[in-house]
Amino acid sequence: MIDSRARPLVDREHGLVARRIFSDPALYEQELDRVFPRCWLFLAHESMLPRPGDFLTTAMGSDPVIVVRGKDGELRAFLNTCRHRGNRVCLFDQGNASTFACSYHGWSYNTEGELTGVPFAREAYYERLDRSEWGLPAVPRLRNYAGYLFGCWDDAAPDFEEYLGDLKWYWDLFMCATWNGGLEVVNGPHRYMVPGNWKIMAENLMGDHYHTSVTHGSFFKLGQVQNRGGYEDVQNPNGPFEVAMRPAHGCGGVYTGQVAFERDLQIAERMGPDVVDYTRERYQRLQRLIADVPCQPYSVGHGGMFPNFCWSGNSSATSGRTFYLLQPKGPLQTEVWVWYMVEQGAPRAVREAHASVGGRAGQLASGFFAQDDAENFERVTESSRGVLARRFPFNYQMQLGREGDWEGQADWNISGLPGQVGPRFGESIQRQFFGYWSEMMGHPTEGGSACE
Ligand code: FES
Ligand SMILES: [Fe+2]
Repeated sequence: MIDSRARPLVDREHGLVARRIFSDPALYEQELDRVFPRCWLFLAHESMLPRPGDFLTTAMGSDPVIVVRGKDGELRAFLNTCRHRGNRVCLFDQGNASTFACSYHGWSYNTEGELTGVPFAREAYYERLDRSEWGLPAVPRLRNYAGYLFGCWDDAAPDFEEYLGDLKWYWDLFMCATWNGGLEVVNGPHRYMVPGNWKIMAENLMGDHYHTSVTHGSFFKLGQVQNRGGYEDVQNPNGPFEVAMRPAHGCGGVYTGQVAFERDLQIAERMGPDVVDYTRERYQRLQRLIADVPCQPYSVGHGGMFPNFCWSGNSSATSGRTFYLLQPKGPLQTEVWVWYMVEQGAPRAVREAHASVGGRAGQLASGFFAQDDAENFERVTESSRGVLARRFPFNYQMQLGREGDWEGQADWNISGLPGQVGPRFGESIQRQFFGYWSEMMGHPTEGGSACE
């Protein structure tokens, strides 16, 4: 039973989070009701649905959804559930269709979600069924932002760009890179199940730069990369930085100045002269765009948009981006959807390298990084749900109370970066993530220590 009056589940002031938010079935049901329908959720990238009739199926929290490009070229999204007696009307992951016919009694819907076909309409309903009343429920608020389609069910939620907040700046410049033609999918979506709660993964991808050298240490030891993942120099004045943004977004691995560009150039030299030319030319274009940003940002390494849409990759000339949709499938189960994307203008060598890196090293099910992470997520979930373990909250106290007063901050090259910019090792993003989650759940975030 949920008793939110007893103790807060999230204690922001002391950096504590109760373990049961990662396993309690009642809390899980509550977050499906109170969190997901009130947020802007990622649905699709328009490059996945180029032609009229193209569709894909996804989910918004617990609800299956169809995203489809109509005959008029418009993208729409509907609940994937028949209005007659609830059967799923589209059984496929993706494809092209002019209608979606229910396999139970045969009602069918067009790509605009209208009920168009009713078997035995005269004999069964005397033609009195008002079809206009029984279309597929449409996602009421949609926003196509630079090719990324998001949806929201809540009239009271802020507009998408307001919801993005300071993250918009990083999105425009690094995640979407519309100034370099925008992005396209080169690999995916791939899907795999992780026996862990979705929030464990979301907070990791948004703001956990602390785990990389340990969890993924074997990858670096195998010499799969030339450096030690940037850990030779834990906090350079040019980065990496972690950035917390309202209401609960985060990104990290942010580099400014020349350091990441020079590293990119070294990688480009190993990839071929056309990649070197491209890297230099892209850099000049970026410089023109950020002429008025004193710190001269170059790349962003990872991040996430609350609640469950995340990304990684260096967002640089030689690297694409990996996007993740963390689909909740129960308090102890998450289905991870992964896409590899590159900037449209990237040379072939960059596209091929990024398309293949996921299966070898990255976040596809066969990649080093995904397997390293998933093992931890599974064990964290399993060893935290016991009745005794639940008495001991998780520790999110890193850099607690230092926000805006970080050690060495005076030397950082961060002038012009929006959001609350912090050091590589910190947990401000996580404290904000769980604080906002708790607010949406209607639980207090102060007045005692988070515990069982
Ligand atoms: S449940 Fe779809 S037609 Fe009956
Ligand atoms: Fe990781």
